[in-house]
Amino acid sequence: MTSSELTSIKKMVYQHCGLLLEGVAEERLRKAIQTKLVKEGCADLTAYRKLISQNSQAFDQLVNHLTVNETYFFREPEQIQLLVNHLLPQVLANKSSNEPVRILSAGCSSGEEPYSLAIAIREALGVNLAKRVELDAGDLDQNILKKARAGFYSEFSFRGVTADLRKRYFLPQERGFQLIPEIRQQVNFYELNLLAPVFPKQLHNYDLVFFRNVSIYFDLETRRIIQKKFYELMPSDGLLILGSSETLGNNLGVFELVEQHDQYYFVKGSRYLPKSSALEVKPTTITTKPEVKLPSLNNPIKPPLGDFPLPDIQTVQQLVADKEYPRALHLLASLLVKDINNLPALLLKSWILLNSQDFIATDQLLEEAFALDAWSIDMMFMKGLSAKWQDQQAVAIEWFKKVVYTNPECWPAHYYLAEIYRSQLQPEAALRAYQTLVRTLTANIKASDAMQWIPLSLPAGDLLFLSQRHLQSLTDDLQVKEK
Ligand SMILES: C[S@@+](CC[C@H](N)C(=O)[O-])C[C@H]1O[C@@H](n2cnc3c(N)ncnc32)[C@H](O)[C@@H]1O
Repeated sequence: MTSSELTSIKKMVYQHCGLLLEGVAEERLRKAIQTKLVKEGCADLTAYRKLISQNSQAFDQLVNHLTVNETYFFREPEQIQLLVNHLLPQVLANKSSNEPVRILSAGCSSGEEPYSLAIAIREALGVNLAKRVELDAGDLDQNILKKARAGFYSEFSFRGVTADLRKRYFLPQERGFQLIPEIRQQVNFYELNLLAPVFPKQLHNYDLVFFRNVSIYFDLETRRIIQKKFYELMPSDGLLILGSSETLGNNLGVFELVEQHDQYYFVKGSRYLPKSSALEVKPTTITTKPEVKLPSLNNPIKPPLGDFPLPDIQTVQQLVADKEYPRALHLLASLLVKDINNLPALLLKSWILLNSQDFIATDQLLEEAFALDAWSIDMMFMKGLSAKWQDQQAVAIEWFKKVVYTNPECWPAHYYLAEIYRSQLQPEAALRAYQTLVRTLTANIKASDAMQWIPLSLPAGDLLFLSQRHLQSLTDDLQVKEK
């Protein structure tokens, strides 16, 4: 696969929907192209690129393969509690009794997010008041929307749900659970590309937008464009909620960032700003209900204070590996308050920030880690990855080289070195780096990635396969040149 063809397809995808296809995402792209190329009956990559530039259906099919649809019910329950206990009552109080409250779940994936909101709202407000809330949900991926509409889920989606809640809202089926029709009917799903110049006309006038765990796949410019769209989709006052780990990387001057009840969110207009007189108004419509503590949601983890024991770092490490970033960040904050020089905590926090593409904050934290241990493999590796993802390939090479000098067994660093050399048309250097990786992983596919704290979780089998293929084609090219 030549680098110019790949770059051209990456650009097409980026311009269409904003997805950045670097690092692990680039591997996803390569795999998707390999599968689709055969399926579409194209002789080579040039023919496939031509097909997707002329046939929008074929292009959409590729894009459907590139999205990351990871989601589950009651993800980040603290934010859902913020909605039902604090934000929704304010919005309801500002509406007349026949006016609906409108919520959009943007980037809804297979539907767990909007359905969780529907369930939580019904639990908190009761069936009748919940009818005043209109829930729309949209996603780019047409295949995942089919799944969302069907409302059929496997065990994997229930990580944040208690047995009680599952019993009341889901019907057991032979292989999984189906959401009850009453909740399914409450959510309208739409095909939605957040970067499209025009949105489906039904999508308008939202009081609240949930846009969680989507912005991490976009650069700052795309995030800004999308935030402006949300701004236009709202009346004069509105609320925007992003995943907790994404919030700081999305403070772009479009909405106002506020903090209330230990949660961050964004506000349009003045009505929903904390401390304003509007916030003091008690919602008459639901005063008969005490502030709702959703019994079936996970309890939010507060940072341990005072004499409470500090969390152990292995627990936090596991949360980071499970991508439970908001909870991990809470616990890391308490560890770092206690000891600002806690290197594992600094490294794990850097990893979360890096994955949120908050490069400035990542680089700052890594500087602190560097001051504590200039030879930390995790720190050097993240420096390399951060530079690579910011397209500073020369800097990335320097850091990945430092990693392999310090620990020659670190096969992920050899992999990234090889990829950069290949993209920079340095075949001999790429060849050497791929060879080292292939040697290491052929000897032991479970070879350690050499990271001490950060859960890289790279797919060793896939990378070995890809590296072997690159190795073969680089060797062939070099032999042709020699002749
Ligand atoms: C990781 S899921 C997040 C699901 C859910 N919001 C949550 O927090 O669990 C990200 C979703 O964003 C969608 N997405 C990515 N780019 C998009 C775009 N340009 N327009 C609409 N949806 C997009 C993907 O298809 C994917 O389903």
